Amino acid sequence: MNGRQMKLGMSIWRHGYHVAAWRLPEVPADSMMNVRRFIDVARAAERGKFDLVFMADVLGSHYIEDEDRSKTRGHTVVKNDPLQILAAIAVSTSNIGLVSTISTTYAHPYTAARAFATLDQISGGRAGWNIVTSYNMEEARNFGLSAPADTATRYERAFEFIEVAKGLWDSWEDDAFPVDKERGIYVDRSKLHVLKHTGKHFSVRGPLDVPRSPQGQPVLITAGDSDSAKELAGRYASIAYAGQPQLHLAAAYYRAVKERAVANGRSADDVKVLPGIMAYVGRTEAEARAKMEKAQDLVLPEVGLAMLKPFFGDLSAYDINDPMPLDVETLSSNWNKSDFSKMLIERARDEKLTIRDMYRILAVGEDWHISMAGTPEQIVDRMEEWFFGGAADGFNVQPPDTPGGVDDFVDLVVPELQRRGLFRKEYEGTTLRDSLGIARPKHPAA
Ligand SMILES: Cc1cc2nc3c(=O)[nH]c(=O)nc-3n(C[C@H](O)[C@H](O)[C@H](O)COP(=O)(O)O)c2cc1C
Repeated sequence: MNGRQMKLGMSIWRHGYHVAAWRLPEVPADSMMNVRRFIDVARAAERGKFDLVFMADVLGSHYIEDEDRSKTRGHTVVKNDPLQILAAIAVSTSNIGLVSTISTTYAHPYTAARAFATLDQISGGRAGWNIVTSYNMEEARNFGLSAPADTATRYERAFEFIEVAKGLWDSWEDDAFPVDKERGIYVDRSKLHVLKHTGKHFSVRGPLDVPRSPQGQPVLITAGDSDSAKELAGRYASIAYAGQPQLHLAAAYYRAVKERAVANGRSADDVKVLPGIMAYVGRTEAEARAKMEKAQDLVLPEVGLAMLKPFFGDLSAYDINDPMPLDVETLSSNWNKSDFSKMLIERARDEKLTIRDMYRILAVGEDWHISMAGTPEQIVDRMEEWFFGGAADGFNVQPPDTPGGVDDFVDLVVPELQRRGLFRKEYEGTTLRDSLGIARPKHPAA
């Protein structure tokens, strides 16, 4: 048995990660709005000893500009504020980490530092911040911009933002609040450190009006792919989400992030790289495939065509049962010439795929994570391949549907991981840092 074990996060995406999950009869219609559903998912993940639950976020209504698309993908146009949902989850769970996104482009470091320090207090040390710089058009338009700023500008602001947040979290030493009733001393001002930050993007005096939180500093996580994002991961993050669909691509990302960690004076193991996996699980492969087909059959053609558009341009002039047009010249001039699109075209040629086949590949997210249907053994085999193949320290589990896909992973895949010694059977402690095996940072003045 190898001593190294995987880290696992459960992404909560309302009805599930399959684009048509919301249409499955067994998926509750109120999965988006009813906080009880989110709590149930988190409790199931905690039953499976997951390190964390994660809620992604964008400050905008996805696809709202596109009337047809928003009608058929209506589950993406509305949501609730994830940090408030995590606060509700915090009081209904005891060990699982609670991670959400706050954008360094549209938030302010004072309010972000305050929100995560508070979540860390509420949860007894389980808060994590997924740092994103926001490339979406919808968000830009909600914050007075006609388009998002370029990557370099967004990340420059992110680096300063993080330094400010970290400085604010150290506003107070751990023992700054004696609350000495006898002597009438609430606060020991010798333990106060006022940040007084003045930089290019922010001017923040401090101190933060939240005491130092149980983890000292909430856990930092990031998910970008650009060079700046990898530098950010190497310098600050304890977890980097990888958005790569193939082992060799994820392995290159893995190496780059670890190299940057070492270049920043950290150890390679200080940042855990977690690629995504969306798995349909069955007791037999046929059962797993049947579950996947059931969701695939619910993908409306207009949704499928909308998903193909960013890759291949507008294919609505074709019948969906037509063979996928293979000549890239006949595809619309704005087709995306990424390696992934080229790989899809090769695949369409080799496997004689129709347009419908092609959008079903995207419906299960083959463009950005491992996507498969199989038995627990088959799924763990694939996870092991990435884990020992230098591409993963664990996985960001993206259940195809909720709650069924969550329960399947927890009750069928986790026991197989545990049987092979690849995953914990009990939590190591009560904080997210305990689970990840990363130390609580000492206060600089301590
Ligand atoms: C697992 C995962 C989760 C992500 N979550 C978010 C999110 O919540 N909000 C967001 O705006 N972007 C999110 N992203 C996008 C990344 O933050 C990033 O912008 C994207 O990968 C492009 O990389 P770049 O920013 O370095 O160009 C996520 C990406 C991945 C792979």
